[in-house]
Amino acid sequence: MAVSGTRPGLQTQVLSAGTPEETRTAVAAAVDILRRGEVVALPTETVYGLAADALDAGACAKVFEAKERPRFDPLIVHVSGREMLDEVAVVPAELSAVIDRLAGEFWPGPLTFVLPRKLTVPDIVTAGLATVAVRSSKHPVFKAVVKELGRPLAAPSANRFGSISPTSASAVMAELSGRIPLLVDGGACSEGVESTIVRLEATDRPKPLIHLLRPGPVTVEMLKKFGKVATAPRLSPQDGQPEVPGQLPSHYAPRTPLRLLAKPEDFSPEPGKRYALLSYRGLSKDGYVDLHDWDEVQVLSPGSGKLPEAAVRFFFVLRALDACGVDEIVSEPFPERGVGLAIQDRLRRAAVE
Ligand code: TXA
Ligand code: MG
Repeated sequence: MAVSGTRPGLQTQVLSAGTPEETRTAVAAAVDILRRGEVVALPTETVYGLAADALDAGACAKVFEAKERPRFDPLIVHVSGREMLDEVAVVPAELSAVIDRLAGEFWPGPLTFVLPRKLTVPDIVTAGLATVAVRSSKHPVFKAVVKELGRPLAAPSANRFGSISPTSASAVMAELSGRIPLLVDGGACSEGVESTIVRLEATDRPKPLIHLLRPGPVTVEMLKKFGKVATAPRLSPQDGQPEVPGQLPSHYAPRTPLRLLAKPEDFSPEPGKRYALLSYRGLSKDGYVDLHDWDEVQVLSPGSGKLPEAAVRFFFVLRALDACGVDEIVSEPFPERGVGLAIQDRLRRAAVE
């Protein structure tokens, strides 16, 4: 038996989707492999996904194997748009107007809805839950593959379970080389953090309650005009489990321990240890860059600090810091507004106590 997740003799083929002609070839190869019940890593605008035909339980099982993902953690299903949503989810009548508005505004794009599932979706995809998570990717390669296949695609992030999400083809190779037959290289992801996940609840007012299950590129500020946004962590009424099962406390973790500071005074270096700093703007006035003789400093958005730019570079830089050989990565806190909320959420889950 092979090491869990590896497939003896399997070499991962990498097809570049740079020029329009390369893209056509790569999309055709991806569709062909998906039709044969196989998996393929594809770029999305958020992070790379490991895709399988969402209606093929056997193909989806291969996603879990390659990632070494526990079966209790459900997958996100990607559709071509609002029409295909009805193939996999039941849109409750009282929510259909707001779903139409939200999908009209943010689809294709990084917004995922948790909705009651249709029974066409295999149990393995939803981990047996009565709900399914659905989004529509705006990446041209991903979009073209769903369209040509004509079926929804289940795709979690293309990393091994619990590890840093991949935002480049080389990061996917570092995670899954030898475990999957094909990777389409579409360059760097334009958002850099995973989609926003919401669950909607009808109220006696015209606007629904929007439960934010995972913060992401569609921010609280953007969602506000569609309803009241509830950001507190919630337990589902039935079983007391977190509503987003994959939102386990330890996630997105580098191998090097990461410490998330709340203020500069919280840093107390141990003698002989080597530290790297993950900085937002790299500014002395923020109090972190001159705090210590860091072995390595990586700045996410130098100068004036732009949160979307910080998000794009976040997982990429975290991966680089993990590889730089220090004993500990120390992170500045990020402002919890806009997509900064998503960055801070990922840092909390990556951090040691
Ligand atoms: O941007 C993204 O969403 C990326 C790209 C590839 O689309 N995908 C992604 O998938 O982040 P993944 O598997 O790494 O994270 C999906 C999250 C997990 O935390 C999972 O537990 C949660 O979505 N999820 C899936 N189905 C759910 C459901 N029915 N109810 C609640 N949470 C669900
Ligand atoms: Mg993930």
